[in-house]
Amino acid sequence: MTSNRRTFAIISHPDAGKTTLTEKLLLTGGAIHLAGEVKARGQARRARSDWMKIEQQRGISVTSSVMTFEKDGTVFNLLDTPGHEDFSEDTYRTLTAVDSAVMVIDAAKGIEPQTRKLFEVCRLRSVPIITFVNKVDREGRSLFEILDEVADALALDVSPQSAPLGMGGLFTGVLDFASDTVAKPEGGSKEYLGSREPLGELPGDMAEEIELVREGYPAFDLEAYRSGDLTPVFFGSALKNFGVEELIAAIDRWAPPPRPQPSDDGPVSPERDEVTGFIFKVQANMDPNHRDRIAFMRQVSGTFKRGMKLTPSGLGKPIAVHSPILFFAQDREIADTAEAGDIIGIPNHGTLRVGDTLSESNKVRFTGLPNFAPEILRRIALKDPTKTKQLRKALDDLSEEGVIQVFYPEFGAQWIVGVVGQLQLDVLVSRLEAEYKVGAMLEPAPFATARWIKGSEAALKQFTDFNRANLATDRDGDPVFLAKSGWDVNYQVEKNPDLTFSATKER
Ligand code: G4P
Repeated sequence: MTSNRRTFAIISHPDAGKTTLTEKLLLTGGAIHLAGEVKARGQARRARSDWMKIEQQRGISVTSSVMTFEKDGTVFNLLDTPGHEDFSEDTYRTLTAVDSAVMVIDAAKGIEPQTRKLFEVCRLRSVPIITFVNKVDREGRSLFEILDEVADALALDVSPQSAPLGMGGLFTGVLDFASDTVAKPEGGSKEYLGSREPLGELPGDMAEEIELVREGYPAFDLEAYRSGDLTPVFFGSALKNFGVEELIAAIDRWAPPPRPQPSDDGPVSPERDEVTGFIFKVQANMDPNHRDRIAFMRQVSGTFKRGMKLTPSGLGKPIAVHSPILFFAQDREIADTAEAGDIIGIPNHGTLRVGDTLSESNKVRFTGLPNFAPEILRRIALKDPTKTKQLRKALDDLSEEGVIQVFYPEFGAQWIVGVVGQLQLDVLVSRLEAEYKVGAMLEPAPFATARWIKGSEAALKQFTDFNRANLATDRDGDPVFLAKSGWDVNYQVEKNPDLTFSATKER
């Protein structure tokens, strides 16, 4: 049986139009609803409305972390990636939970730094990508310039599926190659409202350009797309609704259904009978009065039913999942079941951690959810030294959530926090204050990066005896080498061939 799930994320540089496109996808997919329109029943209703209250209080959106809509029998799960310029592990991890991605680029700006970084993460995991060139209602670069830049910058084959007829003031619609129809702007706002015409005669220059775009690039090839070697390219305008229908149709038709996930026992197929999944994100302290949190599980296999017992790998004994949050569009009744590819929000009190596997049998462990080497390390100092215990608790919590990494040095009383981007430090300080009532300051640390070390007991002992001043343990008690520089890392790697120094830690 082929799955009707399509689980994907949108990657882009800030301002390229991810938010606008997300809204239009949801609108076109029929998932946008009026506030207060809750048709769920019983348990589901209570769970949802509680969370909605919390969302309002905090001004954040839980349910928008996962947006689900159903169109023509296909269920689309759109996972939100945090939209900051700064990079967090959260973003990386979300990409471990999707089967494909849509890359949005601005027609005037092309490939920007954040797009490239996110693209690299997708490439590492062979996540196939559909490209959406946005804002063709404005002046942009020439079609060739955009297509060639994607091809060159990302070393991908590009296969254009549509083309704007003019841009900016000259924009007269978007030609869809498959149907040979033009989506036309209408009314004062020049939006696409459903009007399509067969392609007519084009002015000479434009006819030639379109011909070259159609004929001069590789034809779409499903296998090349699915293996991450080719990206189909759609041109459109999220703001004016051009290209959105075509994008949904392409995700439906081409994007991969749930893929087998790597585990210590080999790949786990979505067809496996038992329910399995992994936690890729934890959001804590949604409600400042309760220490509750919600863990997001990507379901890998089986059919989940409300109330089912699953065993988290970190706990070893089963928990009953009574009030899961299933992120279905709100205009249909909340289902009591979920399938491979779906995301389930599991409220808990800290038992579930990022990277945990959940399963019925407790016999499988998913691999490949890495901790990344922090690029910024800081010492953390308390404003009130009596708050050590609270600080430790807070740091453990926040590192569980993936906001920071924490290292407890062998020597010295000050703990070290590591992050991938500057923004995480600001988040850390404000959350310590707001949620844990701990005033803290960050001070420079004499370290530039960290490496997890592994090796035989003897080799480890020899290394640690010599390098105590640079040693720490992470929150799991595993040994970490705190390096003063990249050079320092290379030096130790060469000097200690019996040890491995990893920039990531796979849980
Ligand atoms: P992001 O989530 O990727 O950061 O981008 P977002 O959707 O917020 O869009 C960034 C800006 O680009 C917004 O304008 C948005 O209206 C505009 N935009 C998005 N898609 C299109 C498009 O297809 N055509 C045009 N012309 N503009 C588009 P803003 O002025 O920053 O915000 P707002 O005042 O419009 O809300």
